Amino acid sequence: MDSTDTNGGTGTRFLSLPSRVTRVVASSNGEIQGLGKSQHERMRHDHLITSKQLSRADIETVLDRAAEIDADPEAVADRHANALLGLLFFEPSTRTKMSFETAMKRLGGDVVDMGSVESSSVKKGETLADTVRVIEGYADALVLRHPKQGSATMASEFVDVPLLNAGDGAGHHPTQTLLDLYTIRENAGLDDLTIGIMGDLKYGRTVHSLSYALTNFGARQHFISPESLQLPREVVYDLHQAGEGAQVREHDSLEDVLSSLDVLYVTRIQRERFPDENEYQKIAGEYQIDLETLEAASDELTIMHPLPRVDEIAPEIDETEHAAYFEQAHNGVPVRMALLDLLLGEQGGETDE
Ligand code: NCD
Repeated sequence: MDSTDTNGGTGTRFLSLPSRVTRVVASSNGEIQGLGKSQHERMRHDHLITSKQLSRADIETVLDRAAEIDADPEAVADRHANALLGLLFFEPSTRTKMSFETAMKRLGGDVVDMGSVESSSVKKGETLADTVRVIEGYADALVLRHPKQGSATMASEFVDVPLLNAGDGAGHHPTQTLLDLYTIRENAGLDDLTIGIMGDLKYGRTVHSLSYALTNFGARQHFISPESLQLPREVVYDLHQAGEGAQVREHDSLEDVLSSLDVLYVTRIQRERFPDENEYQKIAGEYQIDLETLEAASDELTIMHPLPRVDEIAPEIDETEHAAYFEQAHNGVPVRMALLDLLLGEQGGETDE
């Protein structure tokens, strides 16, 4: 790769807001200790850690590129023929991991996969910092999923290749957000949007990332959950700080808002994040939707879910015009192709970025 920037990094820049990245580190909930200011400043712009980094222009750049790729995937089939993507998944994943792998291969590249935690040196006690430093020597970009909130921020301090956060505990999941926005744009449009986001808003990282990104579009956001699974207060605070872009309301019942929604984004109760299984059992099974629920909804309502679902959406909804969640999962491929293409741009030698 060519060396192109003053930070000693490489690759095309399209995420252009280092000061915002610094703010994210500062607000990472105390999970990550000991990051000095100089380390913040060293952070590369093209790590994608949270959707707070993404301006409306950044988002539109990715979505437009994804649409181009979706329309003509053959045009990019050899574009990154020598590129290798490092996959580091310390938590289960089906869609995110496989769609990143598909995306890299459909761009002509390949993946190197750390494999399961059980079969890697992590089992011998290797730190995350050492693991990423080693694997960046094998790959042109890294994708990291880890159970600890703040882990992607910390790991990104140690590597020079782009690092993409594929989920850090109950923190963020910005690449999911990009495919969610792509799906919303295709089905309902991103302008003048009224969206309901329902389920586990406390631990659901897809929700945190999506809600930040939607402030760029002035969406009216209705958050529907039991009180114990409301959005973390710091997220609500941040959303209000986004100024005019944030129109945020919280509800404990879907009935309050269903008829006004263009999109209903349903999420799984994140069992694995509950400190107490009894607490999970009390809530499991609440906030489910079926055909009867939808009698009060607009005919145009688009229903989304990052998947996997447990029992939040009755299978009888799958065959209706409302259901967009499988399409949403499939959109992970063109959107991640677009993102990788933008981040690895110069390798292909054809970008005009
Ligand atoms: C989500 C995740 O891992 O945060 N899944 C995904 O990436 N599509 C949502 C979930 O696990 O409930």
